Amino acid sequence: MFITFEGIDGVGKSTQLELLQSWLEESGREVVRTLEPGGTDLGQEIRHLLLHRKGDVSPRAEALLYAADRAHHVATRIRPALEAGKVVLSDRYFDSSVAYQGAARDLDVQEVLNISLWAVGNLVPDLTVLLDLDAEAAIARRSKTGVEPDRLEREKVDFFERARNQFLDLAAQPRFLVVDANLSVDAIQDLIRKRVAAMGLS
Ligand SMILES: Nc1ncnc2c1ncn2[C@@H]1O[C@H](COP(=O)(O)OP(=O)(O)OP(=O)(O)O)[C@@H](O)[C@H]1O
Ligand SMILES: [Mg+2]
Repeated sequence: MFITFEGIDGVGKSTQLELLQSWLEESGREVVRTLEPGGTDLGQEIRHLLLHRKGDVSPRAEALLYAADRAHHVATRIRPALEAGKVVLSDRYFDSSVAYQGAARDLDVQEVLNISLWAVGNLVPDLTVLLDLDAEAAIARRSKTGVEPDRLEREKVDFFERARNQFLDLAAQPRFLVVDANLSVDAIQDLIRKRVAAMGLS
């Protein structure tokens, strides 16, 4: 079972992933919790280029770097774990590229999706949890953490609003669970666990 978490920066993805991991492990599942970009050693170097390097990264180069990170992540970490019968929880996956490198950066969303699908050999998640929050609220929540914003997080509100709207468009697909990220941490986790349990995992 492959579950991904999506949503703009600061909506609560990491918080929810951690809680879901504990619950699955308590029920005896082996869980691999990972993230993009940076789920592998090569990916950590790519993550640094994408988020912390000084200077510009052109939009197509950015899209390809994310795809390269994802290709290596799937090949060396996600697929082997799934083949070993583990549950994989990923903090972001290709929907983030469609939303950010596509809609927010203004590349063609279908082209960005196609690059990712090629990169991952068409590995589509079984479930994608979208935590939905408006951009202003997400930015406010993030600034409260006191962590310095990275290169993408320094973008303006309308960048995140475009990403959010693209996520909502993607969420018309049946593999998505959309949750209102204004709910409490516990209420959100309950909705996620119900959906995961309904898929036969718990
Ligand atoms: N449901 C919630 N209600 C209010 N605050 C929340 C909720 N969920 C998480 N938070 C808080 O919002 C902040 C961001 O949460 P978190 O780091 O989980 O988000 P994220 O989506 O992983 O962010 P990023 O994209 O930056 O990694 C944290 O301070 C967290 O405690
Ligand atoms: Mg996070």
